[in-house]
Amino acid sequence: MPRKIVVTSALPYANGPIHIGHLVEYLQTDIWVRFHKMCGSECLYFCADDTHGTPVMISARAAGITPEELVERVHKEHKADFDRFGVEFDNYYSTHSPENKLFSELIFSRLNEAGSIVTRDVEQTYCENCKMSLPDRFVRGTCPRCEAENQYGDSCEVCGSTYQPADLINPYCATCRAAPALKTSEHYFFKLADYERQLRDLIAAGHTQKSVANKLDEWFEVGLKDWDISRDGPYFGFKIPGEENKYFYVWLDAPIGYMASAKNYCDKNNLDFDVLWPGAGSTKSGEGQYELYHFIGKDIMYFHAIFWPAMLTGSGIKTADKLFVHGFLTVNGEKMSKSRGTFIKASTYAEHLDPECLRYYYASKLTDGIDDIDLKVEDFINKINSDLVGKFANLASRSGPMLAKKLDSQLGRLDEQGRELIGKLTAAKDQIVEDYENLKYAAVVRSITALADEANRYVEQNRPWVTIKSDLEKTRTTLTATVNAVRILAIYLKPILPKFAEKVERFLNVETLSFADFDTVLADHKIGAFERLAERIDEKQVNAMIEESKQGQPPQPAEASVPEPLKPECTIEDFAKIDLRIAKIVKAEPVEGADRLLRLSLDVGGLEKTVLAGIATAYRPEDLTGKLVVMLANLKPRKMRFGVSEGMILAAGEGGKDIFMLSADTGAEPGQTVH
Ligand code: 2FM
Ligand code: ZN
Repeated sequence: MPRKIVVTSALPYANGPIHIGHLVEYLQTDIWVRFHKMCGSECLYFCADDTHGTPVMISARAAGITPEELVERVHKEHKADFDRFGVEFDNYYSTHSPENKLFSELIFSRLNEAGSIVTRDVEQTYCENCKMSLPDRFVRGTCPRCEAENQYGDSCEVCGSTYQPADLINPYCATCRAAPALKTSEHYFFKLADYERQLRDLIAAGHTQKSVANKLDEWFEVGLKDWDISRDGPYFGFKIPGEENKYFYVWLDAPIGYMASAKNYCDKNNLDFDVLWPGAGSTKSGEGQYELYHFIGKDIMYFHAIFWPAMLTGSGIKTADKLFVHGFLTVNGEKMSKSRGTFIKASTYAEHLDPECLRYYYASKLTDGIDDIDLKVEDFINKINSDLVGKFANLASRSGPMLAKKLDSQLGRLDEQGRELIGKLTAAKDQIVEDYENLKYAAVVRSITALADEANRYVEQNRPWVTIKSDLEKTRTTLTATVNAVRILAIYLKPILPKFAEKVERFLNVETLSFADFDTVLADHKIGAFERLAERIDEKQVNAMIEESKQGQPPQPAEASVPEPLKPECTIEDFAKIDLRIAKIVKAEPVEGADRLLRLSLDVGGLEKTVLAGIATAYRPEDLTGKLVVMLANLKPRKMRFGVSEGMILAAGEGGKDIFMLSADTGAEPGQTVH
């Protein structure tokens, strides 16, 4: 009986781009899903954007759009990135959806009925200026332990200690820098401890890997505390039924997004969701026909191994059969870093390199464990060039073109030696299938590479490039075995390299390859036109990608929502010293040796000033004459490398081409004071 399987990957936040770190998980899952589909199972892969919470709300504000607009924009970007890397979801949905609202309310009300929800007052950090409660990451201040400045509200990046925002010395709001107040508010809590026994049983029954189970044991020992599942408005999320200004915390509705994505798929494809994921319908049925698996990173184990199964258990809904946890990505042995250019967006990678190369490389490193995987740039280039191109693609280019040119693209039959080779290749099937099933992709790649070595040795021994001159039929026999070897290797590689396998299918002129195709041999068959299966990577391509990643890199999600902190306060007396005037640009000229600077001669109401301004990337000198600008007219003249600058002009923008100043039609007069 073919298996029926539902698979999910963690939902990416809707306020940042997909990067190569995220891709470890999506590729690990996609390979597994493709493998099962190729085995003939009904395997459905669901995911969605994780849209709610304060960071999305603040990012949207900063971009001057609504959270809904931001979520829609990011959804398109994420979908395009996944498509580029061949991550093939059966549904890629959103947590900001009617299905998710419905399920969140359902689960909440069932937990409430079960007596697992309580309310109590909490003291929370509140910014009067921003009119909002501040999540821990939006409060900053001095670490109470080591006194490092500018630390987050929940932990110190310098000494590693964890604490409450109220413990910070001189706390301030990360958005506006005002000192926050403590405010009391009633919150909803989920009594996790009610489910400790069921959770322990679940873990003991092999819900996840051993190393993860050990970590969970530690958490059980510490004790399961009530979990705060509400947040006060303003908040981008679902309102708690019956409340005016309270919302479900993002981490309550995020995993429910797995169900929402599945439900949305079922409705569109005429499938019964209650069969697919039993328990949410009117009958709280048991196990059901579909196996259910979640893939996640080790940073979100607590949410998926404690909160989520407790929520499901408490509301009578099926929990996952297994949680697969993986490690993080490091690059050249270190955390991905913007300054080193190793924080690489999926879209940047795809501009420079073939996504299938990353699929291959990650597969060659992935195990069933939770250790981090390291992308070593040199090793990456070597593996692609020596294995993917040198072993697999090479086997096809040693057989295809010769068959087309000299043998009318016509395969013959296998001889004894050919049968032996193909026998060896097919005999590896059970081990490879088992390793795929158990997420031991590195072992899969090792096995397939060894088989490719075997096939290449066969070609070396039979020297078709020599025999072609004297014995066409002998050569046809050799190439028939070679082409059959290519076919088998392509089947084995297909979950990892779907595009590569598609090219092989076209080249061999065969239907879609699957794991059921091992029993047949291609004989007396006309193959199609040869196409190159993989290209070598040049180090220059990788360097260009790293260089591009050093520039204009958007901050990581956690930081994306926190604007750069303001400078230390200035008093009103300090401010009164500033003399802002309207100035007219009389002349603008380039500054030799300084690409970014222009030398501006300004008329400040009869007073002449020369200012060196860093605006050459945005304006041509000839376009500036006659323009009005606001200038800081009483700045003490500064001697710079390219001359003396007698003030500063005011402009705003991101830099580069986006530097904006006043234009000429404001009605202002040179010399006028700016209030
Ligand atoms: O850690 C994260 O990136 C979360 N957005 C993952 C959510 S997974 C699921 F629970 F929705
Ligand atoms: Zn504030």
